[in-house]
Amino acid sequence: AQLETRFEILPTNQPMADEIRDNVLQNPGFGKHFTDHMAHVRWTVDADWHGHQVRPYGPLTLDPAASVLHYGQEIFEGIKAYRHADGSIWTFRPEKNAERFRRSARRLALPELSDDDFIGSLKALLAQDHAWVPTPASDADECSLYLRPFMIASEAFLGVRPAHEVDYYVIASPAAAYFKGGIEPVSIWLSSHYKRAAPGGTGFAKCGGNYAASLAAQKEAAANGCSQVAFLDAAENKWIEELGGMNLFFVYKDGRIVTPRLTDTILEGVTRNSVLTLAKDAGLTPEERAISIDEWREGAASGEITEVFACGTAAVITPVGELVTENERIRLQGNGNSEVAKRIRKTLLDLQYGRSDDKYGWLT
Ligand code: COI
Repeated sequence: AQLETRFEILPTNQPMADEIRDNVLQNPGFGKHFTDHMAHVRWTVDADWHGHQVRPYGPLTLDPAASVLHYGQEIFEGIKAYRHADGSIWTFRPEKNAERFRRSARRLALPELSDDDFIGSLKALLAQDHAWVPTPASDADECSLYLRPFMIASEAFLGVRPAHEVDYYVIASPAAAYFKGGIEPVSIWLSSHYKRAAPGGTGFAKCGGNYAASLAAQKEAAANGCSQVAFLDAAENKWIEELGGMNLFFVYKDGRIVTPRLTDTILEGVTRNSVLTLAKDAGLTPEERAISIDEWREGAASGEITEVFACGTAAVITPVGELVTENERIRLQGNGNSEVAKRIRKTLLDLQYGRSDDKYGWLT
């Protein structure tokens, strides 16, 4: 394996004891535990990117006037590292995340990080904290090490303009399945009032503000017994967009598989992109186009739509059983039998965990 040399390694003198870490890895949950180290690169308008380090995980020292705390100039990524049966560790299409991170940076007026530094930071952190990548107990076990790169405006300045000082970090968190119910179909709440993104806004960028903007709707969803929110477009209140942290797919009886086409209000998921390829190679007919809430309602009623599923890095592929609104429940016949979702999910996981041939060259 090629190890990244640009990163200076400052090892912690207080690593978690092996037996405590192994205990955490038995039952990590999602996003609750963090590894011993983090990667860091600093940017200033005068010195560009510099000071590449892997250093002990710990609290940041930020000036209270740091502009990220006031104006939310921030972006992030999510990517998993998988342990294969031979012990080796792999990430999935990291160049897609690197590219999206640069796209997000441009929209948030943050400096772009090179693919070399982005992928190099993942490699450097994984080289140090490799013991934190869990070993799956079986083919059904979707444990991994979830990597969270993020970039913040750290300049202490209360004027509103792009920061002249920025910090990039990667932290890592051992992860089990995102949804506790496993691949049981989830109920989704349709937000009739709240919008996640608007044309010309930041919807296509992975910035903290988009997620903050989804939380009031998320609270409404929870109050109505739903685990996620589906958002409609802001202009016509008619077109299905995404779930905020996941993209949506609709499976039709005749073999079509439809996902909303990309606009500047939809985040381009790496899983979404991979599902389009896997579906085509499984003999389905993928379509990227606008799909309306009426089409969902009518397709569910007629049986034309047989499945709906959500996909993302964190949640992989999760079947959606019903859409709940203030005055109706749109239920798929048989609660969505999930046959196609399960098949694509298995193909994807087999690739990621090295149980099938990496024929697309997706693993690094
Ligand atoms: C992902 O990594 O899949 C995300 O979109 C972030 C969040 C839902 C955990």
